[in-house]
Amino acid sequence: MAENGVKLEGVVFEAAGGASGAGSAGWGAGGARADARQRTVSAELQEDDLAFDRSLRPKRLGDYLGQTKIKESLAILIEAAQERGETVDHILFSGPPGLGKTTLAQVVANELGANIRTTSGPAIERTGDLAAILTNLEEGDVLFIDEIHRLNRMVEEVLYPALEDFALDIVVGKGPAARSIRLDLPHFTLIGATTRTGLLTGPLRDRFGIAFRLQYYTPDELANIVCRSASILGVEVCQDGALEIARRSRGTPRLANRLLKRVRDWAQVRGDGVIDEDVAAQALSFFEVDALGLDAVDNRLLEILAVQFSGRPVGLTTLASALSEDTDTVEDVYEPYLMQQGLMIRTPKGRQATERTYEHLGLTPPKGFGA
Ligand SMILES: Nc1ncnc2c1ncn2[C@@H]1O[C@H](COP(=O)(O)OP(=O)(O)OP(=O)(O)O)[C@@H](O)[C@H]1O
Ligand SMILES: [Mg+2]
Repeated sequence: MAENGVKLEGVVFEAAGGASGAGSAGWGAGGARADARQRTVSAELQEDDLAFDRSLRPKRLGDYLGQTKIKESLAILIEAAQERGETVDHILFSGPPGLGKTTLAQVVANELGANIRTTSGPAIERTGDLAAILTNLEEGDVLFIDEIHRLNRMVEEVLYPALEDFALDIVVGKGPAARSIRLDLPHFTLIGATTRTGLLTGPLRDRFGIAFRLQYYTPDELANIVCRSASILGVEVCQDGALEIARRSRGTPRLANRLLKRVRDWAQVRGDGVIDEDVAAQALSFFEVDALGLDAVDNRLLEILAVQFSGRPVGLTTLASALSEDTDTVEDVYEPYLMQQGLMIRTPKGRQATERTYEHLGLTPPKGFGA
């Protein structure tokens, strides 16, 4: 920076690891929705998870369980780039909260033996902030931008030449004396993470060499994650105990680890500390996480659809007020998993129970249901 005689004013440096609280960013003010995010079964990052997260987070590809296809592709990408002595292409990870995007970004940096610099879309408020981050990178560094869909347009414009040509265009001076200077940047790899690919602008998406969409984990994969975490924590868990926790974890490693923690406490106080299938099931029922990973509010929602409205279509506003939640919370927090599980459907006339809803609630559908 100084060699070029250009001074960037008002720069803000992001501390490494600054994105760790990003999962909850933007939810601060909303009462109902913020509460919903604090549920035991929420996939969002919670305060409680933080210390735990650090010790359980896999560091290398070999410890990162599941997502086999993605891991294989990354291994090839990393090896090929290293053989050529080049930096790896910019990578985008997308997928629902808690599936391991941030973890994977750190794993890639570790595999590359590179430094990782971590920030997030909302943290880079001004173009100067991004310029400061970029000019402080070193050759071969990984720059991780979490929630990259939340970058503002002005900042995005500065990012484009940085990604394409490893260059930074800045304007110095004002009025007629203003001129644009192009600074060379070191070669780096951007890793972006987003829960909402749909909100990424086309030009930004196009500048990633490769994009991966993380999938929900199978119960077997989650059981392996639970076993790994248990051995790090020194908790004794049998294979069937791990599988019981896995089945109730909504396909999400963050949740599997959180439930393991709850079950561990329960087993210590109510049992002999060993977690088998029975202990896991009893503990999770105690914490109101049922066999499918639904909590009391999820089940209440299903009851409203199946019993109170006898399986007829229900409008969103009606459903929300019957549940004493606001409509956004119902749509964003409760519905996605229930729909993914086939426990409710959205029709043009409203929300409706399915055969599976009745099955799950242990009820018989009313006469003529589904006819
Ligand atoms: N494949 C995996 N193997 C083992 N543990 C994992 C795996 N993926 C995630 N985890 C665990 O789950 C936790 C959550 O993962 P991570 O923070 O990477 O999710 P994320 O996708 O970045 O979520 P968010 O969208 O909220 O930022 C990690 O701390 C880690 O312990
Ligand atoms: Mg993350």
